[in-house]
Amino acid sequence: MIGKLNHVGVATPSIDEAAKMYRDLFGATDITAKRALPEQGVWVAFVNLPNAQIELIEPYGEASPIHAFLAKNPKGGQHHVCFEVPDILRARDEMRAKGATVLGTGEPRMGAHGVPVIFLHPKDAGGVLVELMQEPGGGH
Ligand code: CO
Repeated sequence: MIGKLNHVGVATPSIDEAAKMYRDLFGATDITAKRALPEQGVWVAFVNLPNAQIELIEPYGEASPIHAFLAKNPKGGQHHVCFEVPDILRARDEMRAKGATVLGTGEPRMGAHGVPVIFLHPKDAGGVLVELMQEPGGGH
């Protein structure tokens, strides 16, 4: 049911520092500008790779959900993986029917790519926080 790996989310205390590392260490040449997503409490920037993206995530505001992660991982670290699905509501219902825990209200939210996303609790996915994202042009 899942489709392409869209991105790997990486939390960082500083997108600027992380972007510099991807440039200097790995030679990444296509990194987007840092952008605020106040409703989600994050700054994001994307390292564009030939087959997927690295989503750099930095806390935005006091209530950011990323603060707790950085408290445990002060230098940052791998935060989530994101797979594309054809239809986000169908995917949510299927996940629930199979016993997985959809985080929050379960209502899809607009993600950084302008398409709806949900998150699944890591306890149901081998310890990995999973984001499902409706593929561009998907839905009903
Ligand atoms: Co993401």
